[in-house]
Amino acid sequence: NQAQSGPQWERHTTELTNCIVAFLSPILPTEEEYRIKEATRRQLERLANRVSPGSKLLAFGSMANGFALRNSDMDLCCLIGKGPDGQPTTHHTASELVEILGQLIREETDFTVMPLPKARIPIIKINRSPTTDLPYEIACDIGFENRLALENTRLLLSYAMVDPTRLRTLVLFLKVWTKRRKLNSPYMGTLSSYGYTLLVLYFLTHVKKPAVLPNLQRLPPTRPMKPDEMELNGNNIYFYDDVATLRKEWSSQNTDNVGELLVDFFRYFSKEFSYARDVISLKSENGLIPKDGKTWNAELCIEDPFQAGYNVSRTVTKDGLYTIRGEFMRASRYLTNMRGQKISVLIAELC
Ligand code: CTP
Ligand code: MG
Repeated sequence: NQAQSGPQWERHTTELTNCIVAFLSPILPTEEEYRIKEATRRQLERLANRVSPGSKLLAFGSMANGFALRNSDMDLCCLIGKGPDGQPTTHHTASELVEILGQLIREETDFTVMPLPKARIPIIKINRSPTTDLPYEIACDIGFENRLALENTRLLLSYAMVDPTRLRTLVLFLKVWTKRRKLNSPYMGTLSSYGYTLLVLYFLTHVKKPAVLPNLQRLPPTRPMKPDEMELNGNNIYFYDDVATLRKEWSSQNTDNVGELLVDFFRYFSKEFSYARDVISLKSENGLIPKDGKTWNAELCIEDPFQAGYNVSRTVTKDGLYTIRGEFMRASRYLTNMRGQKISVLIAELC
């Protein structure tokens, strides 16, 4: 093992950083992809308005938080319109809306439509194969009234704007790596992209000293907040979102480059983090709360930033965590013993 400091280490991590950036650049979405997806969103919004006038169809997840890779799925959330009397323009349940809007999309577009009205969160899954005119596959989930998802998307976006390069590069690299290593399938016992993103945020906010990011949920507001900016369905959704001011007045004392942070991230989750004892809680004072055995008895516990007590990683099974930790260790080994290796080759092997 080589020393993880000094000029040689610095050269290594600088090269690692450059290679990661070069590795990611061809797999980022193009302007054209964003344009086509935005046009699709508008087309679907028009249909939603026929079901319920005044409805909005808003993007959340990777298309809206700055962490998209090429050909990411689209996550859309339908907010039901309100009439002049302030009442919703439809009184159908989410399940009924899934059936009704699903049917309309099937009739009016060339999407393949799969309504899931009985799912825990009812959604419409739609997709369309690429054609010569539209050379992008579109896969999209449409849900209803999921305002918490819109808010946590805005939180991630705000973090991405505070430290635009390091956070985004780390998250994007982890997304590619976890997908290629098959660690990114909540249905198969591993963790969602959202979960990995929260791990990175926790690491940059609470583990790194000095911190790379401030804790936006604990910075005091600089303007009067409206009640609906503070609370949603009993959840505290406050966070400091005046990013323009923050970028002027807050600057991290941490100068580590992406390569160093990535090596450190893998080391921390290989051997330092206590999976058995701790819950990752971004909004807490120092990022961790103890598992108490009652509410938190899963293998891996990551508290949702807004829904206290809700475990984002509840999908992770014992086997899934074993695999994830094994991969963290493998990655950590690869990146710390990279003397003499061509780094672009190393990244390809790592993924
Ligand atoms: N989400 C959530 N709770 C979860 C999982 C997801 O609220 N347990 C919401 C979040 O708003 C998240 C969005 O769903 O931003 C999309 O999650 P996910 O698909 O995991 O993340 P993406 O960034 O969209 O990643 P990908 O490109 O892999 O789809
Ligand atoms: Mg997504």
